[in-house]
Amino acid sequence: MTIDSSRKVALITGSARRIGAHTADYFHQRDYDIVLHYRSSGDGAKNLRDRLNAVRPHSCIALHADLSDPAAWEQLAEQVRSWKHRLDLLVNNASSYYATEFGNTTLSQWNDLFASNAMAPFFLTQYLLPLLKQSRGCVVNIVDINADKPLPDFTPYCMAKAALKAMTLSLARALAPEVRVNGVSPGTILWPADGNMPDSVQQAILTNTPMQTIGSPDDIAKAIYFLAEQAPFVTGQIIAVDGGYSLR
Ligand SMILES: NC(=O)c1ccc[n+]([C@@H]2O[C@H](COP(=O)([O-])OP(=O)(O)OC[C@H]3O[C@@H](n4cnc5c(N)ncnc54)[C@H](OP(=O)(O)O)[C@@H]3O)[C@@H](O)[C@H]2O)c1
Repeated sequence: MTIDSSRKVALITGSARRIGAHTADYFHQRDYDIVLHYRSSGDGAKNLRDRLNAVRPHSCIALHADLSDPAAWEQLAEQVRSWKHRLDLLVNNASSYYATEFGNTTLSQWNDLFASNAMAPFFLTQYLLPLLKQSRGCVVNIVDINADKPLPDFTPYCMAKAALKAMTLSLARALAPEVRVNGVSPGTILWPADGNMPDSVQQAILTNTPMQTIGSPDDIAKAIYFLAEQAPFVTGQIIAVDGGYSLR
């Protein structure tokens, strides 16, 4: 296999909007070529792809995959490989997130939450390992501080993020020294996209956050960049980016 790109390449899953899109833009500005991934946000992904390619031609592609379909994991990895035969950074960011009341949770919800938050990150890493090894690259998994302090109405989501955290620690040992594996654990960065969080809950989060504010996508992108580019001796670590919320 030959490397036919002089620039580093990053795959960021779930990068058509919000934190993933900002992270893609952030790394592109720092000379990475970018593989965007989307499921239903095709317009957002294509707009971002076109904007990045206007800045630097052939520097971005957008790939579709529904990560709840196991067949999609290897297909996505193969499309990434075919693009530039290179991968330096895998950011497992895509995530299904919704409440599941205990007593009424369905197997289909369980499978959906575990697929995007735990299973796809594991199998994408496995399929992309040859490329990551070749570049001595790294994986950054986007966890959640609620993996350690689970929310009562989000049990399968929190379990899946806890699995992602365990995977980060385990693969850091399994894949060293060629590939580093770390995580970023956001606190509240953006309010949920469905707009369903009551004002009282938002206020309680702010009251319990020592920094007295929510974060921004830039805070997450900077932490990922630190792990990818400035921390060659760091593996198996998960950085909480939460304004101190998890100290409570
Ligand atoms: N926002 C926060 O404050 C916060 C707090 C704690 C942790 N986090 C973590 O940080 C990461 C980014 O957060 P966010 O709020 O920006 O995420 P988000 O908007 O809730 O989701 C990111 C993307 O995940 C994709 N996705 C979901 N299920 C998928 C599936 N089955 N297959 C493929 N793609 C799927 C969606 O892509 P499409 O739109 O294309 O369908 C979505 O745009 C997530 O891992 C999240 O758990 C965020």
